[in-house]
Amino acid sequence: MLVTLEGIDGTGKSTLLDALREKLADLDPVFTREPGATWVGEAVRRAVAEQLDPVTEATLFVADHAAHLATVVRPALTNKKLVISDRYSDSRFAYQSVTLEGTIPDPEGWLRAMHNGWSIVPDKTFLLAIPVDDSLARLEGKTGREHFERREILEKVQDRYLAFARAEPGRFVVVDALLEKEEIAGFVADAIRLTLRSSRSRRRP
Ligand code: TYD
Repeated sequence: MLVTLEGIDGTGKSTLLDALREKLADLDPVFTREPGATWVGEAVRRAVAEQLDPVTEATLFVADHAAHLATVVRPALTNKKLVISDRYSDSRFAYQSVTLEGTIPDPEGWLRAMHNGWSIVPDKTFLLAIPVDDSLARLEGKTGREHFERREILEKVQDRYLAFARAEPGRFVVVDALLEKEEIAGFVADAIRLTLRSSRSRRRP
């Protein structure tokens, strides 16, 4: 089963992941992330840091996704593992549909078409949502901030994420990222266990 965590920068995704590692240890999940751990992931980080043009950046993010699927996600799912990915395709649909505005006529359609037919759709996606002011306050003082981490961008990115959640209410769970860390982690861990149980019972004849 594939679970993804999404949200704008500064929502506390990393804190949540640390807690999930502990809370779900008995399930022995594969924790992974995009941009990934291969050299393609490094290329993406470099393109983002150097602010290459948005099409180069977007296609590198997609290349990184392909490498991530091939080296981590597909093999783990084949082995019936629970895979938990820190960011995944919805990050592209949310962030790059904003960065490609004005460059490509229908950025979201273009991005989705690039994934259609070969990518794997997550079983569950937890979207951490937070007022952009709070996200920016949390990012304050962080070194090496990406060019996405600006109010104009993050507001649009979060609006897109929320629109995706409305369009696919069965897959998305929107989580209030202002709640206590422990409360969020407990809720998400329980929800993952529940989803795992129901997907296993669905698979049984
Ligand atoms: P991430 O490594 O999660 O950020 P950090 O570790 O600095 O918190 O992601 C790097 C940035 O890349 C983040 O701002 C979100 C962005 N991103 C995209 O724009 N598109 C994508 O497809 C992905 C996976 C990330």
